[in-house]
Amino acid sequence: MMSATREEAECAAPAAPAACGMPVVPAAPASCESPAVPEVPGSGVSSAACGTPAESATCVASATCGDDALLQLRGVTKSYDGWSKALDSVSLSVRRGEFVSVIGPSGAGKSTLLRCVNRLIEPTQGSVRFGGREMRGLRGRDLRACRRRISMVFQHYNLVYRATSIENVLQGRLGYKSTIAGTLGLFTEDEKRRAFEALDQVGLSDFAYTRVDRLSGGQKQRVGIARALVQDPLLLLADEPVASLDPKSARTVMEHLRWAADELSVACLVNLHQVDFALEFSDRVVGLKAGRMVYDGTPDGLDQETIARLYAADAPEHDEAAA
Ligand SMILES: Nc1ncnc2c1ncn2[C@@H]1O[C@H](COP(=O)(O)OP(=O)(O)OP(=O)(O)O)[C@@H](O)[C@H]1O
Ligand SMILES: [Mg+2]
Repeated sequence: MMSATREEAECAAPAAPAACGMPVVPAAPASCESPAVPEVPGSGVSSAACGTPAESATCVASATCGDDALLQLRGVTKSYDGWSKALDSVSLSVRRGEFVSVIGPSGAGKSTLLRCVNRLIEPTQGSVRFGGREMRGLRGRDLRACRRRISMVFQHYNLVYRATSIENVLQGRLGYKSTIAGTLGLFTEDEKRRAFEALDQVGLSDFAYTRVDRLSGGQKQRVGIARALVQDPLLLLADEPVASLDPKSARTVMEHLRWAADELSVACLVNLHQVDFALEFSDRVVGLKAGRMVYDGTPDGLDQETIARLYAADAPEHDEAAA
């Protein structure tokens, strides 16, 4: 299993962490005075509670009303070497607040799929629409604006271990700030309150000022989720978020992700090796094998035979395609 790349880390925390110059963060929990989440006018989209730049609203302006897909992949193919296909014509839609798990054996293309979504890598073919807008070809400011509303949670957390929980969570706001403000760690009181609230939401308000290297793996991952949440995401991508955790911590992390989908309407696209968790927590399960989608449906419809075929050592779907 691959760990997060440096670029992925930058995607989660777009500017250098201000661990040395971090501001003093208010001691009082903010849960009782959490700011109302306004709507982006005309879009039906919740905007950032701590101030949403207009460009962010533009990015998601057409996202979301009713049953429209928030994320829509059409025929996405990725070849790293020009001939083999890590992803082979994958089509997938995710609605707001929907929890979709992606399962499949090692090398099936799960991480590649997530990286194509937030454009950490460029698909070779196909379309990736987020909030009604084609992500392929986006550059600079437009790409950053879209990525702001797509947060990531990593298997290995991607936290700054010498910094406190709340300092790490505040990094989730860096995409909303100027480079100078981000580098200097100049966060508003609203942002600090929101970071504290996010820690409270994942049950870690007592650990806000604890250095992350003193937290357990499960607690670290919850800090990662809090950091993802202060980004005010519409879509949360998680690449094997519980693979490094013991079963109890893993369950807690899954519950927090599910909570974000249910209560905050954050769509979650989660790569998992634990089929049981996928069946238990998901609205929909996507099965990938050798880069191809072999299942897309409800957990109820995923029978043992399909699961066995998905994880079988041979790759009939791939063989057939190659024949
Ligand atoms: N940066 C890369 N360069 C070349 N090939 C790559 C790269 N990343 C992934 N691949 C290849 O693409 C295919 C899919 O890899 P990917 O990491 O997406 O699978 P995965 O389902 O996430 O696997 P795992 O469960 O082990 O994390 C594999 O054959 C892998 O070797
Ligand atoms: Mg992977």
